[in-house]
Amino acid sequence: MIKVEHLGKHFGKVKAVDDISFDVAEHETMVLLGTSGCGKTTTLKMLNRLIEPTHGKIFINNKNILEQQPEVLRRGIGYVLQNNGLFPHYTIGENIAIVPQLLKWDDKKIQYRVSELLEKLHLSKDYLNVYPNELSGGQQQRVGLARALVANPPVLLMDEPFGALDNVTKAKIHAEFKALDELKRKTIIMVTHDVQEAFELGDRICLMDKGNIVQTGTPAELLFKPKNKFVREFLQEQRLQLEFRSLTLKDVKQELEGFHADQSVWSVMENLKIDSNNSASFENLMSAFYNYKKEQRHE
Ligand SMILES: Nc1ncnc2c1ncn2[C@@H]1O[C@H](COP(=O)(O)OP(=O)(O)OP(=O)(O)O)[C@@H](O)[C@H]1O
Ligand SMILES: [Mg+2]
Repeated sequence: MIKVEHLGKHFGKVKAVDDISFDVAEHETMVLLGTSGCGKTTTLKMLNRLIEPTHGKIFINNKNILEQQPEVLRRGIGYVLQNNGLFPHYTIGENIAIVPQLLKWDDKKIQYRVSELLEKLHLSKDYLNVYPNELSGGQQQRVGLARALVANPPVLLMDEPFGALDNVTKAKIHAEFKALDELKRKTIIMVTHDVQEAFELGDRICLMDKGNIVQTGTPAELLFKPKNKFVREFLQEQRLQLEFRSLTLKDVKQELEGFHADQSVWSVMENLKIDSNNSASFENLMSAFYNYKKEQRHE
């Protein structure tokens, strides 16, 4: 659905984005992962033409977006800004309603849609008339998401949407994010520097470094088929946990009563009570997991 070809943005001698190419399928979540300054935000902003590329092409639904009117293009793209980007002097209700106002929806329709989103994102209606600085960082980020979703665009760009959150709140929002029906119908490109988050939310990941993509692949591909030392080392610190999280029972060819084949090894470990009755199950699971790793190494 989205196709990026040899895209680059140079600011004088600084190659913010050097030369990147990737595809995103419809309804897929693609994560751009990398350390600070590797070109993630610049890439995202080229996709909705807040930044014009130095070279390269971008197609959305086979249309070259550089030949489209930016305003028309942006109607189909929701954008969650890094640090949420809410207007401080607009109330929460006004912040969410910006795009519908531009599109001249009637007031009733706007009100209905704003209330619907507040409810879906677990924000109280009482917040409608307060200002962003009266909300916590996590609540502000939910409002940023509501604002991006309000006109129901098919494409969503999210720049570090959960960046300001502590780990406990983050885990909770991740779970909500995955459960939100509105998001299942969207093609999403999400930026993060958080490896765990990338693995949890991404169908695929572009791992970036210094303006280039080092490897694009599923979480399992990056873990088990790293293209080079950079990829291996990037994931090294959290490797075991990432492996447990990204492999399912089906992947490691293990069946366990009471568990679904698509459940991750991690979630099985969390839910398998280890007592004398099922310590054998745990051992079987671990040996299946290590067999999988051994097979991958020999492939
Ligand atoms: N307008 C600009 N003029 C000059 N250099 C820029 C400009 N915008 C970005 N850069 C440089 O381009 C590089 C990539 O910036 P970008 O904002 O895309 O990084 P990022 O991966 O989003 O980083 P972070 O994780 O810190 O948000 C950085 O080295 C940055 O200094
Ligand atoms: Mg950035």
